[in-house]
Amino acid sequence: MSTEIVNVDEYEALAQRRMPKMAFDFFSSGSEDQVTLRENRAAFTRIRLRPRILVDVSNIDVTTSVLGFKIAMPIMVAPTALHKMAHPDGELATVRAVSAANTIMILSASATCSMEEIAATGPGLRLFQLYVYKDRNITRTLVRRAEQAGFKAIVLTVDTPRLGRREADIKNRFKIPSHLSYKNMEGLMNVNKEIDKMNKTSGSEAAAWVDNHFDRSLNWKDVKWLQSITKLPVLVKGILTAEDAVLALQAGVAGIMVSNHGARQLDHVPATISVLEEIVKAVAGRVPVFLDGGVRRGTDVFKALALGASGVFIGRPIPYALSVDGEAGVTKVLQMLRDEFELTMALMGVCSVKEIRRQHVQTEQDSV
Ligand code: FNR
Repeated sequence: MSTEIVNVDEYEALAQRRMPKMAFDFFSSGSEDQVTLRENRAAFTRIRLRPRILVDVSNIDVTTSVLGFKIAMPIMVAPTALHKMAHPDGELATVRAVSAANTIMILSASATCSMEEIAATGPGLRLFQLYVYKDRNITRTLVRRAEQAGFKAIVLTVDTPRLGRREADIKNRFKIPSHLSYKNMEGLMNVNKEIDKMNKTSGSEAAAWVDNHFDRSLNWKDVKWLQSITKLPVLVKGILTAEDAVLALQAGVAGIMVSNHGARQLDHVPATISVLEEIVKAVAGRVPVFLDGGVRRGTDVFKALALGASGVFIGRPIPYALSVDGEAGVTKVLQMLRDEFELTMALMGVCSVKEIRRQHVQTEQDSV
């Protein structure tokens, strides 16, 4: 029997066999009843494609530009925490694969490699995902280090004033393995002492970390403040309504990521693909709009672009593939998605990313 991996989803089951239960549950879980987790995938399946035939598709160009950078495809890597829990090389393996694929990686603030270690792997397009901590000096220092390490933008995650209720982590008494830590925080606070303190508390250590350190008072004024302390473009990640997209524009952000944090925060919010269009309409081309959440197929990428996204980001498939095959696994995930996207374009009768149009998809709202 062949063991060849032929699609991105197959890595999930393999990762489950490979990782300790506590780690797999951490990567895979959504919050509470995981309604939104299922919906992130299901909503893609309810969108139909409207192909055009007899178009010469002998040359397909899947390249695009994001924030002024030309990249190999509109498929990028979302920030996910703790890659060394999936593979000993952690984010170093991820960044090598992403750079070789000539696309963009957002490094998580909660990574197990520091931004300086990431920069030392060589050139590449990296954005830094930021949380705002109660101690504003920590945030300032992280932003300055991201600038110095050559990161191209700050991606402020705005959906996490507190951690969503991930019940598997609570049951497992989730803890970061003792040989790992939040590398970017070392030197800024005594991470090991903090983690020791949390180990004595019950429930999920990830939730305790957020409760202890994240600034719950974060609001739109702070987005302005963040922009005032950096020359880097600031994007916001975690927008789910047109109303907030308008406020983000008023705050002067450089881009919007439609995200529900991989369904790990508030359960029962809509799938990201279901709210993308309302946000795209509100933004009206003033800044790029990106999407993450449940993207597992080239057809998903195509649907998001047809509904107005400038690109998509993928989350869980990265740690899953890392756990199975390290850097080669991440390379394979990116290659499979690229190839599926190219095939989708060919079968849709589209030769370049900018030719992808709203008419190429039919959603449940359309009365065709
Ligand atoms: C995340 N996500 C996330 N987001 C963020 O801004 N900072 C972070 O540190 C993390 N960490 C994280 C860990 C894990 C295990 C997951 C699954 C997700 C959310 C992430 O950036 C992205 O929004 C989702 O993962 C996208 O959904 P899919 O592709 O996982 O379905």
